[in-house]
Amino acid sequence: MLGLSMTITLMLPSFDFRSAESTWVGLDKSLSNGLRIGWSYEDPFVVGASKPLTVILNANPKTGEPYDPPVRAYVYQPGTPFASGVEHPDNLGPTVKKLSLERGKIDQLDRSQGAVFTIEFADVNGQEWAYVVNETATKGWTPQEVLSAAGDANTRYVGRGKTVYITEGCWWCHTLLPEHTQDWQVFGTPPYLGDFNGEMPTAFGSDRKAPDILHVASRNSSREWMMMHFFNPRLVQPNSIMPRFDYLWGKVDANGNPIDFAKWRADYTAYRKGERAYPPEVPEYARNTEIRALIDWVLTSLK
Ligand code: HEC
Repeated sequence: MLGLSMTITLMLPSFDFRSAESTWVGLDKSLSNGLRIGWSYEDPFVVGASKPLTVILNANPKTGEPYDPPVRAYVYQPGTPFASGVEHPDNLGPTVKKLSLERGKIDQLDRSQGAVFTIEFADVNGQEWAYVVNETATKGWTPQEVLSAAGDANTRYVGRGKTVYITEGCWWCHTLLPEHTQDWQVFGTPPYLGDFNGEMPTAFGSDRKAPDILHVASRNSSREWMMMHFFNPRLVQPNSIMPRFDYLWGKVDANGNPIDFAKWRADYTAYRKGERAYPPEVPEYARNTEIRALIDWVLTSLK
């Protein structure tokens, strides 16, 4: 027994976590969240500042050649700190690092220009590997050109949304970690070690009072449902204990009209008492709001 515990004590610390190869999920998370999702010098008030933008490209922004299926790109405007694996390629794992440097040119960066990244796949010794491509170095894409090509409708504030998950304390009730039990059948596949490369903090949670939401978008991809559920969970789940997050809408709706929360709640109470046939409508959120970022994160990143 002593021999075994000594072996564990001596051997475990020598396991190099950087030797875990990044998976596509790990790269996607890391590239869309940016360097850090908690407190950092770049985001001292933890409001989701200095985050990359995830865009969905239906065509090559330079040549117009259509993409089917669309390509996901991660746009780092000048000044946005690069993802962990780009700053520290060792964190990608040995094979992914080699591919990302040799084919993806992730070391050819001009910080004053920012950069655009995508994830590509390569076959090495019969196995498929995801790796990072610096499209600014390989195809000459600039952040501005890619953002204009995508337009607001195809831009997702995933990194900022993950920050909202942290600051709102969603992890107090939810986990991002299906376990190797019956969880599989309900919440989907548990993550791999390489899904977490470079994620700081990991935020997978340790105590569960609510469903695991790692794969929530694959069981429910409705933006309208998410809007109702975040504005007031009781609209869709009558006995839910989840708090409402209506304040993430801010002061005005998508048309710039003030949101009258007092009236909304009065109408909602009347509905609950049976004095109204329908609940009041949930306002469409404005472009630059925390709720937009949160829903972008939920629907784009959690699959
Ligand atoms: C007090 C605990 C609590 C907090 C805090 C909380 N939730 Fe929930 N959440 C729940 C419960 C319970 C459910 C299941 C009932 C329901 O759908 O409302 C749920 C359901 C959900 C669902 C649907 C899950 C599914 O399986 O379909 C999503 C998505 C979600 N929450 C996201 C969030 C996010 C994002 C936050 C933070 C902004 C948050 N929750 C904060 C308790 C909580």
